Amino acid sequence: MLSTNAQFLHPELMDVVRLFDADARDIAHVFSYDGETFFNAFTLGGDTYEFKRAYHVRNDLEYKSMAKRYSKLALYLVLSELTGKKLPWGALTGIRPTRLAYAEEAAGRDFRPLFREMGVSEENTELVARVIEGQRGVYERREGNCDLFISLPFCPTKCTYCSFITAPIARTKQFVPAYLEALTRELDTMPAIGCLRSVYIGGGTPFVLEPEELEVVLRAVQKIRTNGCEFTVEAGRPDVFTAQKLALCRDYGVTRICINAQSFSDRTLEAIGRKHTAADVLRAFEMAAPYGFDVNCDLIAGLTGESVEEFMGSIDTAVSLAPENITVHTLCLKKGAKLKEETETLSEGGMSEMIAYSRQKLSAAGYEPYYLYRQKYMAGAHENVGWTKPGKACVYNVDVMEESADNLAVGSNAISKRVILGEGRIERLGSPKDIPTYLNKVDELIAEKQKLFG
Ligand SMILES: C[S@@+](CC[C@H](N)C(=O)[O-])C[C@H]1O[C@@H](n2cnc3c(N)ncnc32)[C@H](O)[C@@H]1O
Ligand code: SF4
Repeated sequence: MLSTNAQFLHPELMDVVRLFDADARDIAHVFSYDGETFFNAFTLGGDTYEFKRAYHVRNDLEYKSMAKRYSKLALYLVLSELTGKKLPWGALTGIRPTRLAYAEEAAGRDFRPLFREMGVSEENTELVARVIEGQRGVYERREGNCDLFISLPFCPTKCTYCSFITAPIARTKQFVPAYLEALTRELDTMPAIGCLRSVYIGGGTPFVLEPEELEVVLRAVQKIRTNGCEFTVEAGRPDVFTAQKLALCRDYGVTRICINAQSFSDRTLEAIGRKHTAADVLRAFEMAAPYGFDVNCDLIAGLTGESVEEFMGSIDTAVSLAPENITVHTLCLKKGAKLKEETETLSEGGMSEMIAYSRQKLSAAGYEPYYLYRQKYMAGAHENVGWTKPGKACVYNVDVMEESADNLAVGSNAISKRVILGEGRIERLGSPKDIPTYLNKVDELIAEKQKLFG
């Protein structure tokens, strides 16, 4: 257990310890601030390392934020020196590096010096600059903007790496009729929202539903989406694609679908329990082509036993299919994923090479990075990046990542958010993760959402 005289810094410091897979038991931390200088000392392995940073804070919020920043940086510098490792995002442990960059820019400062001070690599600092550029024209902080999310937590089978609350349809089929009834009730009694910016039906794997079931959801959305805004169906896995479901999506105005490969290596697909082949993904692309949707394709770097060459092959194949969006995730293992039970720690194992290749290849093919986020427990402490062809950035992804618009989320395991810009805060309302509890609580949820958005 890391010991500190400033308990409020403990979780932040543990985030840094985790990045290095270091042994926290040996670390003792002393913190102080005298109104002018932040002081951090770490004792480990019998040696003490001291850091001083002059900074005059103006209020309590700034005090907390700077205390976290400089203590994390100090520990990062110690562990980096002791392990000889530099991490791609340095001492930044937050989920949204762009938010920090936007905050610096809002204060009238170039964000780059801060990123450099925090040990972020030059490549990642430039990536953030490109993401901000890629969001231009889509990113908009204005009250009264709202996105609509519809959660369909059903899947054909469970992939080994996935920790989402979703279960194989064979186990959850019995709940589908009641779930659809609850969803449509939520949608039919939706609180008044401002300008609808986008709709996203996600999961899960929405295409695992039967066509008549999918149509129930599409019909309910049709009543609300009167302005023709972006409309994504995360169709998902190619093993559940049919022409009938694609035609329904077209008939109800869907503008964007996801055909997710994760990898184009059959060996990898089998290892991660996807139950489809790379050829199935190619067939799904072919099947979807006549409908004219924008297409997103998800890939994951660092999947079980996948070599750098296999991953490069997946990037090359995705690029050759020329979807409007390609999202490159870094494997992240959380509780709930089967793979987590089998894997102690995530290794760097070629990750840097994979990420560097994806950036170079996608950039050369004319894609721009347009959203970016990180999670805890990511292989090699890297990130997830959404890439887009010019003018095709997904509004929903930008809004969710930057928390720049309200999000009205219906279904189980869905988090609604109300952005209160004036007060610089966000009110959240989560729904139960498991389906039976959601079904029991749906009336309460409807009332709470009316209040949140009222
Ligand atoms: C909510 S999932 C839904 C996608 C859809 N069901 C499918 O699998 O095709 C969205 C995306 O998150 C990514 N993802 C899920 N679990 C992940 C993990 N453990 N590490 C990295 N990315 C993950 C995958 O790329 C996946 O396509
Ligand atoms: S990755 Fe997609 S298909 Fe696989 S279990 Fe997760 S949500 Fe379901």
